[in-house]
Amino acid sequence: MTAGTGLIPVHKTDNINKLKSLFPALVHYGNSDMLPMHMPGHKRRADFMGGIGKYDITEIDGFDDLHHPGGILKEAMAAAADLYESDVTYFLVNGSTCGILAAIAAVTKPREKILIVRNCHKAVINAVTLRELDPVYVYPKKCGSLGVTGSVDPEEIRQALAKEKDIRAVVMTSPTYEGVASDIAAIAVLAHNRGIPLIVDAAHGAHFRFGADFPAAALDCGADLVVESLHKTLPSLTQTALLHVKSTLVDDGEVAHQLQIFQSSSPSYLLLASITQCLALMAQDGAKMMATYSENLCSLRQALDRLATVTLLRQETGFFDYDPGKIVFGVEGYGGRDIAALLQSDFHVETEMAAPRYLLAMTSVCDTKETLLRFQTALSRLCHGLPPRKAVSFPNMETVAAEKVMTPAAVRERTWAKRDFRESSHCVAAENLYLYPPGTPLVVAGERISPEIITAIQAYVEMGFMVHGVNDRQLFVVSENMSG
Ligand SMILES: Cc1ncc(COP(=O)(O)O)c(C=O)c1O
Repeated sequence: MTAGTGLIPVHKTDNINKLKSLFPALVHYGNSDMLPMHMPGHKRRADFMGGIGKYDITEIDGFDDLHHPGGILKEAMAAAADLYESDVTYFLVNGSTCGILAAIAAVTKPREKILIVRNCHKAVINAVTLRELDPVYVYPKKCGSLGVTGSVDPEEIRQALAKEKDIRAVVMTSPTYEGVASDIAAIAVLAHNRGIPLIVDAAHGAHFRFGADFPAAALDCGADLVVESLHKTLPSLTQTALLHVKSTLVDDGEVAHQLQIFQSSSPSYLLLASITQCLALMAQDGAKMMATYSENLCSLRQALDRLATVTLLRQETGFFDYDPGKIVFGVEGYGGRDIAALLQSDFHVETEMAAPRYLLAMTSVCDTKETLLRFQTALSRLCHGLPPRKAVSFPNMETVAAEKVMTPAAVRERTWAKRDFRESSHCVAAENLYLYPPGTPLVVAGERISPEIITAIQAYVEMGFMVHGVNDRQLFVVSENMSG
């Protein structure tokens, strides 16, 4: 279990005390005789899609407007800001994706340089492309017993900032999909010493704020803009997320402006209600729920540690901190996909992600002692029933620093050619190449495709993984016949 560094808000402000879910208002409206002469087109009919649209409305009187909040949404966002101790918190209904796009656009001008920790989600690269930014990368090393990507070393950030004088912002992911957190406080100081903001993609860290046994929340460590997916680790509907601003370096008016570009002009009230419901619950019972969750995780991890063939990821060398809720494990002699398939077929356990060496079972505060015990029993039975196999060596997927030939935006201006990926060595990639999940680019558009990457892609394809950007063994490269 990680050292207890998480912060729990102690003082409930008036805003937090008033925070209530929007859901009762939707239910009240849905059950009323109000004739809906407004969107959505399903008209809340009970005979349509099993009636799931009953509480699905648009910006009607009394329900405020996400892009120009002045009523219940404004109050709820103020409460969220108090809860997370931000200057401003925005509700997101297009996932962390839209928060990342808006955050990066809000602090950069077209064609400026941005420092990115390269194990980022593709949304970061998409933001770079849209803003025509010039990315400079720092590569965290793979480490730990299962070869996952470790924390980013602040020293590498310091060196990159010292080398490149005109960087406008730093963007990093913490925690990662596998739960590895970095030293945000140290990196925030480095960024602030240069007078630039630190953006943290904490899509997997929305729960940290409420749990003392979890890594510290990015916003509490000095990050300027933090994006958190509520839907990933807290009880909230898919696509719900938060964007927090806590900074003297960021204009929150510009953030709001960018959000009205990247968010739907018809935000779903079911999603908004789910955000308020989730926050009201966490404000009320979050600390207690997280303490129970933490206790249950401890028991689960102890039990999994006793399984002789299981290697369970934990706080390891190369990790600044680690989220114990991410159950990342490998089984000796078996690939992640083998184990995922057996858990699914024989025990009806669906895991989140399978990589060549390991798989990820996600837990959350909504798991109970019983659900975690069911998972533990399934894995234990599976492991005891598996014929022993010698440890296999998996191809080294070490991230090799790629040569950036042009920016991702410049690639969009060029003509492209199709190539068999096995014959694309030294060509410039026209599209990002990545596995999904986790959506972290192996190659970013505009980078030279190295022989090592081709070997890695070959290995992934042979193991049955789908590499996005490679279809029927073909990928797009920047055509060599074009200049400019
Ligand atoms: C690290 C990370 N950042 C951002 C995202 C995007 O989040 P969302 O799906 O909420 O848009 C993901 C999604 O998997 C992610 O893993």
